[in-house]
Amino acid sequence: MSQLSVKHLLGIKYLNEDDLHLIFETADHFKEVINRKIKKVPTLRDLTIANLFFENSTRTKLSFELAEKRLSADVINFSAAQSSVKKGETLIDTVNNILAMKVDMIVMRHPNPGAASFLSKNVDACIINAGDGTHEHPSQALLDAFSIREKFGEVAGKKIAIIGDILHSRVALSNIFALKKLGAEVKLCGPKSLLPKHIESLGVTVEQDIKKTLQWCDAANMLRVQNERMDKSYFPSIREYTQLYGLGLPLLKSLNKEIVILHPGPINRGVEISSGVADSDQAIILDQVENGVAIRMAIIYLLASKIMTPSV
Ligand code: CP
Repeated sequence: MSQLSVKHLLGIKYLNEDDLHLIFETADHFKEVINRKIKKVPTLRDLTIANLFFENSTRTKLSFELAEKRLSADVINFSAAQSSVKKGETLIDTVNNILAMKVDMIVMRHPNPGAASFLSKNVDACIINAGDGTHEHPSQALLDAFSIREKFGEVAGKKIAIIGDILHSRVALSNIFALKKLGAEVKLCGPKSLLPKHIESLGVTVEQDIKKTLQWCDAANMLRVQNERMDKSYFPSIREYTQLYGLGLPLLKSLNKEIVILHPGPINRGVEISSGVADSDQAIILDQVENGVAIRMAIIYLLASKIMTPSV
C-alpha cells in the first residue's frame, strides 16, 4: 500500500506532490463511503483520537470528530476553556496526561504558530495540525484543493485567486503550498496592508485590483478579514474594505466568464462576500464542507496506517 512521506500532518509545506495525490485518491474512496446508506466503516476501531481545541472552531472540530467516528475510532474531545489549562497546566503536561489514557493520535488547533510542530517534537503521538495561529491549516487547504479538483477534474494548470486578508490567514499559506505543489497558478489580491512582504517568493503573483483578479482566475477563494488577529487598523473602515475587496453579485455578473467561488468559512456575509454570491450556483462552499469529512478521514486513515505498520 502507498504511504505518506510524513508521520504527522503539521503543514502542507512538509508534504510532497505524491502525498497530496494519495490523500485525494483515499478521500475519493471515503467520499463514496459517506454517501452510502451506512456511512461508517470499522477500519480504525483500535485507534483512539483526542481532539484538542485551544481556539474556537465549528467546521474543523465537527468535521474531524465525524471523520473519526465514520472510521470507528474512539474519540475524546478537549476544550481548553473547560480544562485545567485554566489552572496553569502546560501544553506538554496536558497532552502527556491525555496520552497516558492510551490515546494514539492528537488533532490540535492552537492560537500559536508552530504549536503542532512543537508538540510533535515533545510528545510520543501522531499529531494533526487543525490550524496553528496565522501559520498553517493543512486539512483546510487539502479540502479546498480537493474541491477544485472535483470541480475541474484536476488542479494542475488552473488559475486560482486568493482574495482578502492574506496576512493573518493560515488558510492562505496552506493553500499556496498545496496549489503550487499541484501545479496551479496562484494570484493573491487584497489591500497592500494585508499582503505579507516578499510573498512572491512563494511563486505567486500579487494584484491589488479585485476585478482584474477575478477576470484572470478560474476559481476565487474569498477569505474573511480576521479582526480577532489584528492589533491595529489595516484599512480605514469595513465599508471601504467591502467596496474595494468585497465580492457581490453585480461584480460577479460583470465578468466575461463564470468562475467558481470558494470560502473556508466562517463567512462574514456582506463584508468579503455578499449573501447573493455565497448562496449562488457558482459557490461551492458547502461542497467544501462535505469534502472536509472525506479529506479528514483520508488524513487520519493514512497516518494511522503508519502507526499500525511502522517502517523498519
Ligand atoms: N474553516 C475553518 O477552519 O472553520 P472553523 O474555524 O469553523 O473550524
